Amino acid sequence: MNVCIIGAGYVGLTTAAVLAKLGHTVHCVDENEQKIAALKRGDVPIYEPGLAELFTDHQSRLFFHHKQIHVEADVIFICVGTPADSKGKPDVSYVNRAIADLTPHINEKQTLVIKSTVPIGTNERIYNHFKNEGKHIHVVSNPEFLREGSAIFDSLYPDRIVIGLREDDDRSLSIMQALYAGIHAPYIVTSLSGAEMIKYAANAFLATKISFINEMARLCEAYGVDVVDVAKGIGLDGRIGPHFLQAGIGYGGSCFPKDVTALQQMAYEQNVRPYMLEATKTINDTQLNWYVQKIKRTLGHMSKKRIAVLGIAFKPNTDDIRESPAVSLIKKLHAHGANVIAHDPKAVLHNVDVKQANTLEEAIAQADALIVATDWDEYKQLNWAYVKQMMSGNVVIDGRNCLPREAIMNAGLNYVGVGRG
Ligand SMILES: NC(=O)c1ccc[n+]([C@@H]2O[C@H](COP(=O)([O-])OP(=O)(O)OC[C@H]3O[C@@H](n4cnc5c(N)ncnc54)[C@H](O)[C@@H]3O)[C@@H](O)[C@H]2O)c1
Repeated sequence: MNVCIIGAGYVGLTTAAVLAKLGHTVHCVDENEQKIAALKRGDVPIYEPGLAELFTDHQSRLFFHHKQIHVEADVIFICVGTPADSKGKPDVSYVNRAIADLTPHINEKQTLVIKSTVPIGTNERIYNHFKNEGKHIHVVSNPEFLREGSAIFDSLYPDRIVIGLREDDDRSLSIMQALYAGIHAPYIVTSLSGAEMIKYAANAFLATKISFINEMARLCEAYGVDVVDVAKGIGLDGRIGPHFLQAGIGYGGSCFPKDVTALQQMAYEQNVRPYMLEATKTINDTQLNWYVQKIKRTLGHMSKKRIAVLGIAFKPNTDDIRESPAVSLIKKLHAHGANVIAHDPKAVLHNVDVKQANTLEEAIAQADALIVATDWDEYKQLNWAYVKQMMSGNVVIDGRNCLPREAIMNAGLNYVGVGRG
């Protein structure tokens, strides 16, 4: 098929690469001229494992355009951002602009797929917008569930494919199934609003699991219990499951914080008090301060102490720093007078007056304390005897409960985790 993708970000570029791999011809459109120029040169503007390779392998089927919509497409995807506005509501202005750009060009033979995470009712509103323009457009809600860092794998092997349709749409499901032929996953077919709600509910639930274990970590700390044992002990229960039970410095990224807040705002608009979402957000909003208090108790004063913060990205295997708790931690330590030196294998620190080391050695050398803020594999696999030799101090703070505690202690270092007694 011939596909046009509007919005060449983490979701748009991953979708483009995967659809090209499936044999489709894909035209990516973005309003960011530099991004399109880079893509045309063969540079991939984001770091996502396997993405650059897929782009190279399927370059004959991938095309990039600045603003210009590919009018011949059978299927048009909207993958633009929906960040939170200043009040925490989803800012749908990028979606609205993309729809306005499409309006003169789109025709009734085409299928319009909304992949951006949009507030409940948006897909219906888009359908009505075209109807008012005299066009009966098949609008499909097909929310995205990929995780940055494993986006290609998640798109090729999704747990499910959610398709939201209008009741009178008897054409689009088979088009979507033909588009995704080769991807084996159960289809959940529901209404347009149902698909929108599934996306928010999924992110809210995952964020809630993280906040739940972070609250347990605070309790474990108070009772001298190891939350890692508790997470294992409850996670093996099939009804609970082991995922998203790693206590740490809180969730971040471009999705969980904004989507939890968005769902909360939507609930208020419907006069429904979202007690659970409020708690999820409150725990996350206070988790970093709770942990910084612990760091302060461990290190005493921070003034002029050299602290190596390993990790800037909001999670491993990405360069994305949107809402990254690691960046918030770096800022807080800096504000406490610490001499912070940050490191990340891929992410770059912006607009913070803190040095970023080029190598891990440079970050760790002469550090009074080392804090792991993002659980990249290369931090988990450090040679702790060598780390001990290089540091001035002996404190290793594991903000993600991801490090080998025994090995660190055996190297003569003090280990401090999150909720580990
Ligand atoms: N990043 C994720 O992990 C993830 C996962 C699932 C769902 N989502 C959702 O997918 C959507 C996109 O997220 P993302 O992380 O890929 O965003 P992103 O910010 O990485 O990319 C969005 C792109 O859209 C472009 N854009 C904005 N308005 C445009 C317009 N009118 N015309 C053309 N281009 C335009 C921007 O220049 C940018 O390149 C969001 O709604 C997000 O909530 C994201």
